[in-house]
Amino acid sequence: MSKEKIFIVKKKKISAKIMVGEIMKKRKKKNYQKIVIVLLLLLVVSGCIKNELKEKDIPYSKDAIEVMKEKNIYDQIAEKEYSKTVEKMLEEKKIDPKYLESYYQIDYQEKENFTTYTEKLLEKNYSAEEINNIFNYLSDKNLEKLMEMDYVALEDYVKVSNMEVDKVDRYKKYQEEKNTDTQTTVTYVNIGLDLEYYSNIQEISDPTSYSVLLNKYNALPDDYAPDDLVSLSINPNMQLRKEAAEHYEQLEDAALLDNVHIIPFSAYRSKTYQTRLYNNYVASDGKKNADTYSARPRHSEHELGLAIDVRSSVLLDNLTDSDYEWMQNNSYKYGFIIRYAKGTTPITGYIEEPWHLRYLGVELATDVHTKNMTYDEYYDLYLKKN
Ligand code: DAL
Ligand code: ZN
Repeated sequence: MSKEKIFIVKKKKISAKIMVGEIMKKRKKKNYQKIVIVLLLLLVVSGCIKNELKEKDIPYSKDAIEVMKEKNIYDQIAEKEYSKTVEKMLEEKKIDPKYLESYYQIDYQEKENFTTYTEKLLEKNYSAEEINNIFNYLSDKNLEKLMEMDYVALEDYVKVSNMEVDKVDRYKKYQEEKNTDTQTTVTYVNIGLDLEYYSNIQEISDPTSYSVLLNKYNALPDDYAPDDLVSLSINPNMQLRKEAAEHYEQLEDAALLDNVHIIPFSAYRSKTYQTRLYNNYVASDGKKNADTYSARPRHSEHELGLAIDVRSSVLLDNLTDSDYEWMQNNSYKYGFIIRYAKGTTPITGYIEEPWHLRYLGVELATDVHTKNMTYDEYYDLYLKKN
């Protein structure tokens, strides 16, 4: 072989070596790239799987989880027990991370506006414990009123069924002065007893109802007069509303069978009549005294056509003690209560009037009799729409 040929062969060998080397280099590079891509893919996939697992681990709805992430509170929530309150606050985007601890202490309630109320109450500075009480005890009407008010410490009043949130300051003042228990305080203040008689007068909205409450704080509308008055058979000059008159006659008959002789001496009074009567008492006895036994016009149950005064037809005087006892034990069966019974002056503001019967209807009178309280208290506890 010539020298030249040998040189060419060597050159070819060398360039072949170089090429193989290049190819190898390129392959290696590609392999590295592949490995990096695979690793990256693995990383992403494992991240997703991890996240999936994590989200499946916490029993919150997708919407709730989304909000947790937005607010950066996922981890905090994930490490705690499930809370429906937290979930709802999240779902309705009412969550504020600064109240997170409180939400866990607030029991979830199936209540309209639960999350809005919770949000507002926390902002007003109510504690979780107070909020639980508010949801557990307050009526919807009270709740709505409370939302319009600044923070007020409701204390134990919150648990009293007839409490009214806007009267809490009055309850506190009255209880401090009179040392009454919480329930009594609420009822008495609701009646108005912390205020002067005939102050803060409310006009009643349903004067035709048999259950209407008239007292020194509640008045009849100025133009009201019943339109179903009938005369009593025993005395045509005396009238009551038809249903009350029929029941009065049954009461009279029942009493007679038990040897209790009653006769009416005052029944329906028009506004004009009550005005004249009251003014005469004031003229002869002074206003202060008159107010203890005569209602001011628009405040008398006689103007309702649902009250009747009775006395003994034998003595032509007040009922005897035994007549009174009979009346107490039986009048409710005919729909009547003794409205100003013995011992009720501090609540009614009138002297004892064992003769004054008020018609309520049999069912209501029976319940008032069973509960054994004044109608003012009964009304506030059981009839007032709270
Ligand atoms: N004597 C009662 C209170 C009235 O005048 O109605
Ligand atoms: Zn009377």
